[in-house]
Amino acid sequence: MSMRIIFLALLLIAHGAAHADGKALFARNCAACHQATGKGIPGAFPALAGNGFVQGEASQVAAVLLKGRGGMPDFSPTLSDADIAEVLSFVRSAWGNQAAPLNAQEVEALRETLKVPAFAAGQMSNKH
Ligand code: HEC
Repeated sequence: MSMRIIFLALLLIAHGAAHADGKALFARNCAACHQATGKGIPGAFPALAGNGFVQGEASQVAAVLLKGRGGMPDFSPTLSDADIAEVLSFVRSAWGNQAAPLNAQEVEALRETLKVPAFAAGQMSNKH
């Protein structure tokens, strides 16, 4: 196999994994309310599929996850900046949605702007 083909194969694998991650994060953290279809439950949990706000300004969508809103929990202590970027990039491109992805650096900067404490998983994982 030529180097070029190996490189392309690796790119495809990396791309698939990144996409699967966002999807898995959504299944674990969001689907109980917003449903795997992204359609939510009318009157209780808003649809994210076909939602204009979700496909609008990325920082405003990320702010909902970092601060919580109404009956929606605050994910700032449970999801890292990379997780938030990954799950929102999935939400913004799944079910026919067509908005640009966002990256961990943008979420990190937003945490600072909103004065939300940095993700602290490290505090609990230092016993080995
Ligand atoms: C416990 C149920 C629950 C879970 C879990 C949950 N949400 Fe929500 N979500 C809500 C509710 C309720 C609202 C409406 C909040 C409001 O505006 O009062 C909402 C609103 C939103 C909005 C704003 C939609 C709009 O049109 O304004 C986004 C974006 C969103 N959720 C994304 C997510 C993502 C991504 C996850 C997983 C990381 C998630 N939610 C997990 C209940 C939930």
